[in-house]
Amino acid sequence: MDDQRKLSLQVNGKRYERMAEPRMLLADFLRHKLGLKGTHIGCAHGVCGACTVQIDGRAARSCLHFAIDVQDCEITTVEGLAGDDALHPIQQAFHECHALQCGFCTPGFLMTIEEFLRDNPEPSEAQIRTALANNICRCTGYANIVQAVADAARRLREQPAAAADAGGCHAGQ
Ligand code: FES
Ligand code: FES
Repeated sequence: MDDQRKLSLQVNGKRYERMAEPRMLLADFLRHKLGLKGTHIGCAHGVCGACTVQIDGRAARSCLHFAIDVQDCEITTVEGLAGDDALHPIQQAFHECHALQCGFCTPGFLMTIEEFLRDNPEPSEAQIRTALANNICRCTGYANIVQAVADAARRLREQPAAAADAGGCHAGQ
């Protein structure tokens, strides 16, 4: 018989309690116990970045953490990024800069970039490329993603007007 325990996690500002095995990964807990399927699982061993969430505001691979170990932390997933009626400025920039195709990698990029731009509001292209180096995209190529991050940085600097800006991708302008 499985060793099920009651786990209590704070995710996107809400406390959830679910029965789960102590060995359940955070990625699986989010997807299968909470239905938060925006967190994707690619490699399942810490390489691709698709499963990236934020743990206490810092980007982290949810395939490398047991859910039981982060019960005292604040978890943020891609579902916690947007407001009720508007995309987050980083999501809007990805949309307008065509920075995704299949979208499988996108949640991991968004959660990585949100932390990066908090710490680096006016990044150079080299800094952006370094920040993205640990996230793999198999189909878009990286040029548009780099552009989207630059555009997102601009939007965030210009907030609150940024959230309402539908003026297209202005990276490099
Ligand atoms: S699924 Fe976690 S890093 Fe690839
Ligand atoms: S958009 Fe398809 S893997 Fe990145």
